[in-house]
Amino acid sequence: MDRFETAGGSFVLERTPGRPSALRGWSAADELVVATLEAEHDLGGLAAAGAVVVVANPGSGAVPLALATRGLNVGLLSDSFVDVAATFANAEANGIDTSRLSVIDPEDLSASTPAALVVVLVPKRLALLDAQLRTLRPALTADTVVLGAGMTRHIHTSTIESFAACVGPTVTSRATRKARLILPSVDPSLVVEPPPPPVTFRWNGLTLVNDANGFSPRRVDAGTELLLSNLVDLEPYRGADGVLLLADVGCGNGIIGAAILARTPNVAATLVDESFAAVRSAQATVDASLGEVPIEPRIVVGDALRSFADGEVPAPGSLDVVVSNPPFHHDHAVTDEMAWAVFTSAHKALRRGGLLLIVGNRHLGYHAKLKRLFGNATVVASNSKFVVVSATRR
Ligand SMILES: C[S@@+](CC[C@H](N)C(=O)[O-])C[C@H]1O[C@@H](n2cnc3c(N)ncnc32)[C@H](O)[C@@H]1O
Repeated sequence: MDRFETAGGSFVLERTPGRPSALRGWSAADELVVATLEAEHDLGGLAAAGAVVVVANPGSGAVPLALATRGLNVGLLSDSFVDVAATFANAEANGIDTSRLSVIDPEDLSASTPAALVVVLVPKRLALLDAQLRTLRPALTADTVVLGAGMTRHIHTSTIESFAACVGPTVTSRATRKARLILPSVDPSLVVEPPPPPVTFRWNGLTLVNDANGFSPRRVDAGTELLLSNLVDLEPYRGADGVLLLADVGCGNGIIGAAILARTPNVAATLVDESFAAVRSAQATVDASLGEVPIEPRIVVGDALRSFADGEVPAPGSLDVVVSNPPFHHDHAVTDEMAWAVFTSAHKALRRGGLLLIVGNRHLGYHAKLKRLFGNATVVASNSKFVVVSATRR
């Protein structure tokens, strides 16, 4: 078990508590932030004063848990259900009081509750960083300590520019074990606009509503397009009652689920994504594209078909069809763990004879993975970059 060492003690930190992961639960950037805060800031004083502390993009919880063990209450600003769940699970596993952690509602960030300390771990998408800094801005004062951090390879000129435009003059630290601090000072005179509104465009009769920070916000992904233009006939998969029970896993803006609902009658659909913003977008896409539908789709935040924020996941052996353009990274980590989670949870949730239909980059080798898991896999369509594969639950 990996232990995250801090000056105040150590705790076990897993990337995905409760199930194996090849990924470590923290980075050198987390270590650098915690070491800096412990050496240069009066954490005990902040805790005694009941200071407002925010950690953006907490990953599996290294920074928030280190602060919580020092008696601070920490607000988490995150677009990732998987990260928030990992942070709480790691806290529980280490006996750290979870009531010290809360998920921040961006609406609550205002000048009336100024933050004393804001830590921003740099996310993969610059648009997400920029939107988060704009969201945080109302809670920043000249006294707020803002500390950004990331691995050197993830910090670009545009990253620094975003801090400078949304917070104030920004410098960076020297690299320590390939991680770097971003040190902006809050300029109270800066005028900072709120995050951009969703981007909407029409595609094949659908109105796609995209969070500006989401996956492929201004165009349809070429893999998704290949899957939708080669959609297999779903009629043979209907249950005896004539209803097709379908899940779109990693639904993003809802394009796959909405396209199927638009062209297929009597579908009870579940659209799930681990991104809170994606789920808002998918709901808006379904509302704008389909209006009233006979069976209201369930659109939820969740981790594949393994755990849903709103409660029960589909029962084992219950679904007729699962469709997905699965994720191949989680924030900075390029990994097939997320796609594998989609495949294994689909395998469990599908009934015998049920169908999994996915698209992926050729080089990801999904065909071989599905064959290993399902005992069969069929290439439905392919081009030079993507391959659409189906597998049947036996
Ligand atoms: C390749 S995108 C596909 C988005 C959309 N279906 C499309 O075709 O445009 C993969 C999506 O999976 C989501 N995702 C990543 N990890 C996930 C997980 N563990 N559970 C559910 N969704 C996840 C991402 O947020 C992203 O929206």
